[in-house]
Amino acid sequence: MTVPNGASPLAGRRVLLIVGGGIAAVKAPDLIRRLRERRAAVRCVLTAAGHEFTTPLALSSLSEDRVFTDLFDLTDESEMGHIQLSRQADIVLVAPATANLMGRMAAGMAPDLAATLLLATDKPVMLAPAMNVRMWLHPATQRNLTILKQDGVLVVGPNDGAMACGEFGPGRMAEPLEIVAALEAHFGPRPLQGLRALVTSGPTHEPIDPVRYIANRSSGKQGHAIAAALARAGAETVLVSGPTSQPDPAGVEVRRIETARQMLDACEAALPADIAVCAAAVADWRVATEAGEKLKKEKGGGPPSLAFAENPDILATLSGRREARPGLVIGFAAETEKVIEHAVAKRERKGCDWILANDVSPATGTFGGDNNSVTLISDAAPDTWPPLSKQQVADRLVQRIAEHLGRA
Ligand code: C5P
Repeated sequence: MTVPNGASPLAGRRVLLIVGGGIAAVKAPDLIRRLRERRAAVRCVLTAAGHEFTTPLALSSLSEDRVFTDLFDLTDESEMGHIQLSRQADIVLVAPATANLMGRMAAGMAPDLAATLLLATDKPVMLAPAMNVRMWLHPATQRNLTILKQDGVLVVGPNDGAMACGEFGPGRMAEPLEIVAALEAHFGPRPLQGLRALVTSGPTHEPIDPVRYIANRSSGKQGHAIAAALARAGAETVLVSGPTSQPDPAGVEVRRIETARQMLDACEAALPADIAVCAAAVADWRVATEAGEKLKKEKGGGPPSLAFAENPDILATLSGRREARPGLVIGFAAETEKVIEHAVAKRERKGCDWILANDVSPATGTFGGDNNSVTLISDAAPDTWPPLSKQQVADRLVQRIAEHLGRA
């Protein structure tokens, strides 16, 4: 078998894969194949509902091991008790993790083999949720997710996208390679262990009145990817995020805000930090006097005129702090022309250590898209990276940070 990308941190690891009952269970065979390519040992548990979507034979052929189901009988119990099954693994991976399984886990219920193993294990647990968008967004599921994260459960995905049920939104299971990447990160080296990182992401919303606001098109994809990569590298990471539809990155403490001023307060409250990455698209101005009541369209009154006030510059404020200035402050410069020249000037003006300059002219598709073309501006010569996914930009940035801090 080939091992893609050299030796994987998964080589020799034992993964107990619980396959829940959702259409995403059809991706389980591919997931097993990817794990086996990396020389991980995979043992599968198939729930009764999972059985409707994939077969024990498919799973056992690929895992080259037997598959445990609820038909687990007394012979099995004497040969391989559920306690041992849950513990003879380095990690328990649930993919797909259904709303039902998550609910049982959050409630500590154990009506079947899968839930029993999850309650009995003393190993890390990672979930790859997959469900209909409404089910994912339902307060009950979100409540369960919060509880599970507090219990230390790792979560990868779900992604946004078209779903088998015909709806669109968050709820698609992370792709097998994304799940593999999350596992590799979990087992891989953690060069930033012991450091604290602060990341801003997303847009800000600046209120006009109680129902209207001014916003921008930032998706938060790049900032969230950076927070996730810092956490994977072992940094204790706080993400201060404006309103976005991005899922919370695994292992990151997320503080949600709406306005620039709230973002600054949340950033200052998160200090001290060794690393600060300001990836948010903060509104430069806010409406000077937010109306306490909804502005009314008066007959013959014409449109209201709005007066603006300048918002705080979070990057410049963090960079200029005398006390508790983060050791390495990194900003972004979204430019549409003279990208490097403008970014060099911005680094000077803001007093930050590094700037990631990106070309956001419409032809690049950077805004809201999945890819980014950046140049790293620091004390050294500008370093232009090839076009990369936002996830790869995040990984490369974290790699550069680790090198800079002598931890690579
Ligand atoms: O000045 P400009 O908005 O182009 O600067 C971009 C950089 O500054 C980004 O890193 C952004 O997160 C940060 N910024 C900030 N607070 C602002 C405006 C921008 O932190 N009010």
